[in-house]
Amino acid sequence: MLETSDASFADAAPTTASDPPVDPAFRDDVLRGLAEPIPSIPARWLYDRRGSELFDEITRLDAYYPTRTETTLLKSIMPEIAAALPTGLAVVEFGAGSATKSPLLLEAIHPSAYVPIDISGDYLHESAGAVDDRFGFPVLPVVADFTKALALPPEIEAAPKLGFFPGSTIGNFVPRSATDLLRHFRSLLGTGSRLLIGMDRVKPVDRLIAAYDDPQGVTAAFNTNLITRINRELGGTIPDAAFIHEARWNDMIGRIEMHLVATRDVDLTIEGQPFHFAQGSSIHTENSHKYGQRGSRLLLLAGGWTPVAEWSDPAGDFALILAEAQHNRFAP
Ligand code: AVJ
Repeated sequence: MLETSDASFADAAPTTASDPPVDPAFRDDVLRGLAEPIPSIPARWLYDRRGSELFDEITRLDAYYPTRTETTLLKSIMPEIAAALPTGLAVVEFGAGSATKSPLLLEAIHPSAYVPIDISGDYLHESAGAVDDRFGFPVLPVVADFTKALALPPEIEAAPKLGFFPGSTIGNFVPRSATDLLRHFRSLLGTGSRLLIGMDRVKPVDRLIAAYDDPQGVTAAFNTNLITRINRELGGTIPDAAFIHEARWNDMIGRIEMHLVATRDVDLTIEGQPFHFAQGSSIHTENSHKYGQRGSRLLLLAGGWTPVAEWSDPAGDFALILAEAQHNRFAP
């Protein structure tokens, strides 16, 4: 709830000191997204406190291969990555929710500084805490939305930079936005910088679906938690069990989609605004794009980064790609 003393808000649900304030951007995104011809809500809103806990649980599921595969891969290729990079790089991590992966990198490459960027201060503390003084370089956390304009700490201005974007988070973005984001990283990190990025590969549909619709129902709980959040934070009246989790493979676009599918005709209100969902219609809540070898390289090239090395696990499930910022060239 927005803080206000306006009398017209007098009958709104009272907030107590323990309730975190509602982000007005959440309200706007939900009301706008649900009014679209294809109802959708940006995936970032899945990650409230409970959502982040559930995602953490997802990363430990047998069916969810990406986290495990990327971490093992990172460990095994670290000597090669270290050999391919100079020492003294300032490592800038985009989204610092991966407190287990960054120490592997930082330990191996002798950076001059570590700059984790995350929208959530809690996650930043975790990441910064995992990289404590024993490493002997400064940890300079930045609380910011890495998709938006931001300022890097002045301490690393002169240092050559390595962007670190693990977890296949790039897969959350539709290619048009992914390209924008990569170009944004390039202008933020500057000429001569590098990027180490994790991308999930295309693989048989049954494995993809299992990873996003696990038998334990953790991913289902992760998705439906968004409904709980809407009801709690936005005074929603979405009935229990009116929507169920569904993971779909969109073969034309090459992505897993998470949807909340109406089990029956549903009428509901959010902040007093009415919405109707016909049985079988859905709210699209997340995309997870999967890339083949050519596709992943093309995405980087289009985003202003030239791939220079690529590693993947023996099964070819997941890739880590090292790329260099492209120079602006006159020709060709
Ligand atoms: C955090 C975006 C990489 O797409 O695999 C996992 C999120 N959603 N299960 C992914 C997610 C459902 C995850 N990323």
